[in-house]
Amino acid sequence: MNPPVVAPSLLAADHGAFAEGVRTVEAAGLSWLHLDIMDGHFVPNISFGPQVVADLRPRTKLHFDVHLMLSHPDRYVEAFAQAGAERLTVHVEAEHDVARTLAAIRSAGLRAGIAMNPDADPRRVLPFLGAVDLVLCMTVFPGFGGQAFMPSVLDSIRFLAAERARRGADFRLEVDGGINVETGRLCREAGADTFVAGTAFFKAPDRRAFAAALTA
Ligand code: DX5
Ligand code: ZN
Repeated sequence: MNPPVVAPSLLAADHGAFAEGVRTVEAAGLSWLHLDIMDGHFVPNISFGPQVVADLRPRTKLHFDVHLMLSHPDRYVEAFAQAGAERLTVHVEAEHDVARTLAAIRSAGLRAGIAMNPDADPRRVLPFLGAVDLVLCMTVFPGFGGQAFMPSVLDSIRFLAAERARRGADFRLEVDGGINVETGRLCREAGADTFVAGTAFFKAPDRRAFAAALTA
């Protein structure tokens, strides 16, 4: 069993003051930071790129969990490795040779993750389970923070948790989108252990208590 982790998403922080967002995450006693990279093509929104990641790197020891919402993630593995990402997650729906991209991520010395959209058949990621450290089940369609959690994804989480147990594997099962204390609990019960939270984290009156409730 992986210890539960809360990974606040910088997407929900003030984009004019990312360093402050990082300090907010540290002040809540957390150790992961989720960084959402969007290209305006794979998803209908643009966020920020490797330079932001590189410039934040010397300011913090937080574990950089980088989520690539890019049509061609394979073209950016090197840039994000150089920028100081520790973990790179790519979508199974993107236009690339998934196995090759995952291998490139690992050979750059990073942890590799595979992500799928909420409507994906979870069997699509089965061929890659031996090549990843994390499976990300999107609980909203990627592109924007602040959307409503999609409970239909709970079945996929249960399916992947059962598969993980069957194989004796230890990849993390991450959920991302509309995660708050209530929806996080449903995901936890389904087998998730890694909780991305943007809006709910940054808006929480007591962020430490919020994170504690998610992992309790
Ligand atoms: C959505 C991103 C998420 C987003 C989550 O495309 O992948 O990481 O920041 O935001 P909330 O928690 O507000 O749904
Ligand atoms: Zn994300």
